[in-house]
Amino acid sequence: MADHSAAPSPKKKLYIETVGCQMNLLDSELVVARLRQEGYELTENIQQADAILYNTCSVRQHAEDKIYSALGRIKRIKERNPDVAIGVMGCMAQKDQAEIFRRAPHVDIVVGPGQLARVPELLAQVRAGEPPRMAVSRARKDGSLETIAASFQTYDADREPAMRPTPFQAFIRVMMGCDKFCTYCVVPAVRGPEQSRPPEAILAEARLLADQGVREVTLLGQTVNSYHYRLPDGRSFRLSDLLERVHDIGGIERIKFITNFPNDMTDDLLQAVRDLPKVARYLHVPAQSGCDEVLRRMKRMYTVASYEEMLARIRATIPQVAVSSDFIVGFSGETEPSFERTVGLVGRSRFKNSFIFKYSARQGTKADQLYADDVPEAVKKRRNNELLALQTAISLEDNQGWIGRVVEVLVEGPSRATTRRPGWDGLEQLTGRTACDRIAVFDGTERLVGQFVRVVIDAASAVTLFGRVETTERVGATERPATPA
Ligand code: SAH
Ligand code: SF4
Ligand code: F3S
Repeated sequence: MADHSAAPSPKKKLYIETVGCQMNLLDSELVVARLRQEGYELTENIQQADAILYNTCSVRQHAEDKIYSALGRIKRIKERNPDVAIGVMGCMAQKDQAEIFRRAPHVDIVVGPGQLARVPELLAQVRAGEPPRMAVSRARKDGSLETIAASFQTYDADREPAMRPTPFQAFIRVMMGCDKFCTYCVVPAVRGPEQSRPPEAILAEARLLADQGVREVTLLGQTVNSYHYRLPDGRSFRLSDLLERVHDIGGIERIKFITNFPNDMTDDLLQAVRDLPKVARYLHVPAQSGCDEVLRRMKRMYTVASYEEMLARIRATIPQVAVSSDFIVGFSGETEPSFERTVGLVGRSRFKNSFIFKYSARQGTKADQLYADDVPEAVKKRRNNELLALQTAISLEDNQGWIGRVVEVLVEGPSRATTRRPGWDGLEQLTGRTACDRIAVFDGTERLVGQFVRVVIDAASAVTLFGRVETTERVGATERPATPA
């Protein structure tokens, strides 16, 4: 007769969807790590889930619309199975708060990005039949958000390899929040004030990740180059110091950091990028606009000339550096001549790539209070397409310059059908990235996943380098150093 008393209790199933930036991907990883300890396992089948979580973004209207329509679609799941717990976490939870319960009454928990350590407790409560719960950070008198709970520091140390981009690539938060208050941006209102984590916590996390087999870490902050921590002896510990210390960790072979704020691009940081071989020669430094008047209204605190001076300093300091940028088109009051100035900046700057967004007015931001969203949607769209076409032409030219050269690639996995080389010959294809964040696709077997390989580039599109793994047979030749692509 079978002994049922020893049967393990069945695992609870968790379905999670994440939108937004890398900070959100990391937050989802940390939440899943916690929930695993509570007996949850991941499922990709939403119909079978015991808990459904959405980690949300508020940066543009489109990101919010996506979540509200997903919530609408799952209403029927809740009707069929009232035991399933539905949670909305992240930036939209902080921004919309109880409004989410009004618009989607089947939601059980609403948890802001500063309160995510409480997700397991809140889920358990609603699954035990308690009424819906909300945990958000409170606004202070001046309207800014309260400082995020210290519990976050320990919360960051729980990791979940299955939720990473790959098991050997991981994000590490070095800062929380943002103090820049660009007038268009909702992030400071939902992520709270800027706080740098203590170096020891970050380094301990990097060592833990290295022990788990992570080879590439990306340090995350909204303005990561503003990182500064006051040590007990009063000295200031900057991002360049942190890079040096992460560089010493065995097993970590590539270090990236995003996103940089133009005004805080200090020489010590540029020199660290130049001098530390594991640090990727890749800098994401959003310009947002090429028109001084628009930049002033965005409160970016720099001019086009000072941005370009900074760009020249980057290129003079770091050979073969790749720089990428973000732009917003159709911001309040952006005239045709001001847009043309942005076109001019993109044409001159030769970014590796640029992310281009149509301005989306965000409730509660200074821009929304002070300026009208006066550029028609059709004009935003046209400017977006025009700027994208220019950047794509530059990216293509830049990528074609790599044909015939060897790049070092960290192999991420099989290439998706859409990214395969035109005229693909049926062999298995892999995808990976160079240190400068360029995507490379080449023939190879899955055995190479997680390895660094040298790839000879023989074709290029605007977004992808195509090539083949360099053969190791050499007739007495010495190894050529791979170019830091
Ligand atoms: N902290 C980072 C990223 C912020 S959000 C930085 O400062 O660069 C990522 C990008 O979204 C921004 O760089 C900006 O280009 C864009 N963005 C932010 N708010 C926006 C809005 N209201 N409408 C359209 N794009 C926006
Ligand atoms: Fe938003 Fe500006 Fe902060 Fe970036 S620096 S998160 S754009 S307020
Ligand atoms: Fe979005 Fe929040 Fe990131 S608003 S861009 S998920 S910080």
